[in-house]
Amino acid sequence: MYINLPTSWMSHSFIKNKFLITSRSQIDKIIQSSLKEIKIDTSLGKDLIDEVIADEPSPSVPETVQKVVPEGLREMIRDPKLASDKKAQAVQHYSQDMMKNLLESPTAENIGAVMTTVSEIVDLIVTDDDTNHYLLNITSHDFATYTHSVNVGILSISLAKALYRKSDNHDMHALGSGFFLHDLGKTRIDQSIINKPGKLTEQEWNEMRGHPNHGFEILTETDKLNKESRIIVLQHHERNDGSGYPLGIKGDDIHPYGRICSVADVYDALTSIRPYKPKIPPFEALRIMQKEMLHHFHRDVFERFVLLLAAAEKT
Ligand SMILES: [Fe+2]
Repeated sequence: MYINLPTSWMSHSFIKNKFLITSRSQIDKIIQSSLKEIKIDTSLGKDLIDEVIADEPSPSVPETVQKVVPEGLREMIRDPKLASDKKAQAVQHYSQDMMKNLLESPTAENIGAVMTTVSEIVDLIVTDDDTNHYLLNITSHDFATYTHSVNVGILSISLAKALYRKSDNHDMHALGSGFFLHDLGKTRIDQSIINKPGKLTEQEWNEMRGHPNHGFEILTETDKLNKESRIIVLQHHERNDGSGYPLGIKGDDIHPYGRICSVADVYDALTSIRPYKPKIPPFEALRIMQKEMLHHFHRDVFERFVLLLAAAEKT
């Protein structure tokens, strides 16, 4: 049957409000949603009880892939008719769901499914400047690790695109996965520390500082991502002046991919609401990074980041 969901597409987990039911999983999803009613368009499909849908076999897509990557995300990325602003909103929204699912269950299979989808997001960002522009302007700013992972992923891929536009020497798909998965190691940190609504004790900070190593280990154990991309996960808290962690390396010892992620990571932390601080507006965050934290970053990478955000703001 052809159905019409009487609400905004942003308030449910389907890509469109009007569509043909083709699988049992769509019906299950409607039942699980908070929708109180749907309309059936009998001019475009069958009416209620015309067929016994309950006996329909399950779809052949592996269950874990379905679970971790929201239905419709990849279809939407490829949809040439979807307007850039809507596409950007949808990619943001569904990527958050995807990362939430992954962080709840970071298995090798789920990591693989997310990497496949991130590759498509990378292709979208690299080839579609309009959608990239909207993506840079709609980052959301709550406290959750999954939101942060998506923001840092999008910002870092955009920055890598700006830095490496004229070079073929970088595997942008692997880079994208490294950026999206940079905080994967937080899944091995006590969640009471991750969600603590206040300052961490010294002991809690020590545990928190282990997350880059944990993330590197997960990706090594599950044999996911190439070596350079794992380095993103390991080095995203290293600082140019050697004041970072876990290794305290500095300058050129920090991999260029780690430097990119570090700038995006700090920017997103500043512009996000945390239990102990309000969000800081984008321009103010960049000013703080320049005036008070410049020694943390590779100068060229930071300057390119400022130019990228300034260009996105203007257009
Ligand atoms: Fe981190």
